Amino acid sequence: MTQTIQIIHEGKTFELPVIEGVFGEKAVDISQLRATTGLITYDPGFVSTGSCQSQITYLDGEKGILLYRGIPIEQLAEKSTFIETAYLLIYGHLPTPSEYETFSYHVKHHSMVHESIKNFYDGFPNNSHPMAVCSAVVGALATFYQDQMNQPDDREIEITIHRLIAKFPTIAAYSYKKSIGQPLPYPNNALNYTENFMNMMFSNPCEKYEVDPMVAKVLDVLLILHADHEQNCSTSTVRLVGSSKCNLYSSVSAGIYALWGPLHGGANQAVIEMLQAIQDDGGQIKKYVNKAKDPKDPFRLMGFGHRVYKNFDPRSKIIKKLAHQVFEKLGVQEPLLELALELEEIALKDDYFLSKKLYPNVDFYSGLIYKALNIPVNMFPVMFAIGRLPGWIAHWVELQGDEDFKIGRPRQIYRGPAKNDYVPMEKRK
Ligand code: CMC
Repeated sequence: MTQTIQIIHEGKTFELPVIEGVFGEKAVDISQLRATTGLITYDPGFVSTGSCQSQITYLDGEKGILLYRGIPIEQLAEKSTFIETAYLLIYGHLPTPSEYETFSYHVKHHSMVHESIKNFYDGFPNNSHPMAVCSAVVGALATFYQDQMNQPDDREIEITIHRLIAKFPTIAAYSYKKSIGQPLPYPNNALNYTENFMNMMFSNPCEKYEVDPMVAKVLDVLLILHADHEQNCSTSTVRLVGSSKCNLYSSVSAGIYALWGPLHGGANQAVIEMLQAIQDDGGQIKKYVNKAKDPKDPFRLMGFGHRVYKNFDPRSKIIKKLAHQVFEKLGVQEPLLELALELEEIALKDDYFLSKKLYPNVDFYSGLIYKALNIPVNMFPVMFAIGRLPGWIAHWVELQGDEDFKIGRPRQIYRGPAKNDYVPMEKRK
């Protein structure tokens, strides 16, 4: 029997259905609320709002659980590859050997970008943030494949998926190469996904770059951990843009911008900058913890807190372990790691962080690993974006086939002037 809740408004009782997810999470279906009652809901930041029903990713923020298509993130991090995980997210199941081979083949063989795209990079200042460059260039892909803009069929969407996953590392590596004045290299299809990316980042025509397989593997695991996180800010952006039936390239381009902000994927860059600032200020951790606790001070501990996780972020547990392994294997002495460990320990004993359930999130340790792999700090959010791409694609595809599909269009409560008249310029004071 369908559960309902009742709301009483102006003496009338209205019944609203309650829908239930696989793990018993419940939602009041308010889709007919305005039509039946005249009321809308008000929920800044969508704290209590479910925007869709999805089969892609489940997370339980209290228990620290994260599942992609039902598979725990811990298993995928240990056993899968990024390309396999991308397939899983987008197509809903682990690929068979032949599906995997075909998918990998296509992702490898779409890795070059049109030669004209290279000219775009000349137009950006050398110190451009790579997220701005990546978003612009990914958006510009729409100008090269215009036949797939309106009502693309399944085959056209398939090719777009291959192109995006294949070309994004190339586009990303070029944003770095351009900033340091080096030539833009071609992808090497003999290498795997992360090896190819590292090779494009660090090889140059004068020197061969040997990709350390351990480094490539670590990067692969990081990409898996970032691959999806249900209705986060950037994924919701991709869905909202896609809900106007806008093409996948442009939707992803918008997602990259949403991810860039320091409250979202830009936090991995902000964490390292924060740790460096604390270090430069004599390592006074308590001073910064106190700043973060002061309601009058806008400073926040970057890499701490999460809208959904009110316990340890399962990704941060894996990343913390990975960070120790990487530092040990590469023999890197990183003072910021010690500082991060100390900061975490102090914060997790502090009542402010405990009472507000603020734990380290995915961004707290990931930047330290990227730093150890010599990836420049402003490329950290780009690494997040490369990882999140399959999630964005999976959600865009799911939305297009959703039987409840509607263009996203929230309402508002208007609080501006009730009535104003136009005043001619000469009469204005
Ligand atoms: N340092 C100090 N105080 C904090 C922090 C923090 N990092 N995060 C939240 N708070 C406080 C906040 O001031 C508020 O206090 P009060 O209730 O007294 O007003 C309370 O905790 C709840 O915070 P909120 O901002 O209402 O929570 P939210 O769910 O809207 O925001 C967040 C979540 C991630 C934006 C926030 O925790 C934050 O700004 N963290 C730092 C940035 C960061 O690390 N972002 C990466 C998020 S994980 C990766 C991703 O998904 O992109």
